[in-house]
Amino acid sequence: MRKKLTKAIFPVAGMGTRFLPATKSVPKEIMTLVDRPLVQYAIDEARAAGIKEFIFVTSRGKSALEDYFDHSPILEQELERKGKTDLLETLQDTNMDSGAIAYIRQHKALGLGHAVWCARRLIANEPFAVILPDDVIAAEKPCLEQMVEAYEETGASMVAAMEVPPEKTSSYGILDVQEDMGSIVSVKGMVEKPKAEDAPSNLAVIGRYILTPAVLRNLNKKKTGAGNEIQLTDAIAEEIGKEDGGVYGYRFRGQRFDCGSKAGFLQATVAFGLARDDLREDLSRYLSEIVQIDKAAQ
Ligand code: UTP
Repeated sequence: MRKKLTKAIFPVAGMGTRFLPATKSVPKEIMTLVDRPLVQYAIDEARAAGIKEFIFVTSRGKSALEDYFDHSPILEQELERKGKTDLLETLQDTNMDSGAIAYIRQHKALGLGHAVWCARRLIANEPFAVILPDDVIAAEKPCLEQMVEAYEETGASMVAAMEVPPEKTSSYGILDVQEDMGSIVSVKGMVEKPKAEDAPSNLAVIGRYILTPAVLRNLNKKKTGAGNEIQLTDAIAEEIGKEDGGVYGYRFRGQRFDCGSKAGFLQATVAFGLARDDLREDLSRYLSEIVQIDKAAQ
């Protein structure tokens, strides 16, 4: 019988240079969209997909991230004493069970593939998810949950995919599609950051993966790829066409925000703000006011 997916790796060892100087002291994953750090969105999505073991691959300077997942008894007592039950619930929702969360260090930022490989002993011989917290996805059914359902059909490695305009293919890994079955596509190749004219499709890989242990074995070879980094995409691509392997893309339903970039982060802040009952009215009024002022100034 196929093993159930219960483990997820969160690679957060990158330096987050696009957010300097903030990331000098604040890990990117702790930066907040409205009132929740990026990493909380990632954890919530993983929980909804049935993940029970949360493995963070961290690096120097990420202790704020570990502290975030600690329980805060003094704060909880204080909120209880003051009768602030809503806030208490919000806080308690972020608590993780003891032993459910593990931290592994990536000692050198050798690439995303290397970060995932650092967690190999905790994964052993099981399928696992990889979630990049800076890709935030707003969806009615959380993206990883959608992928778990699709994975139950295919049993093979699967990457989240979304359509991008031709001028953007050079920012992503792009799928070479063998068969398009709607939500699921089978993959015959993956091309890293092709120019529009060389792109085999407009389906880009984004930061959600369900991978078989074979991908970890491929990472054991520690082959360097683009940018002299150990690329996760290369290790996944090795599975393409294998009889007991194969790779699928999954067109998820939802909107993805690239919170690793400033523009994406700002867009997500507006979108998540507008989605909140307590903020929508003020925020949309403010937005229409500044749009009018901007138009008048032009
Ligand atoms: P990015 O390419 O966004 O790099 O990594 P970064 O360091 O986070 O940000 P910039 O580009 O300097 O602003 C994509 C994901 O892979 C992780 C990052 O933490 C992020 O979640 N990663 C990348 C690692 O964990 N280790 C690495 O060696 C490289």
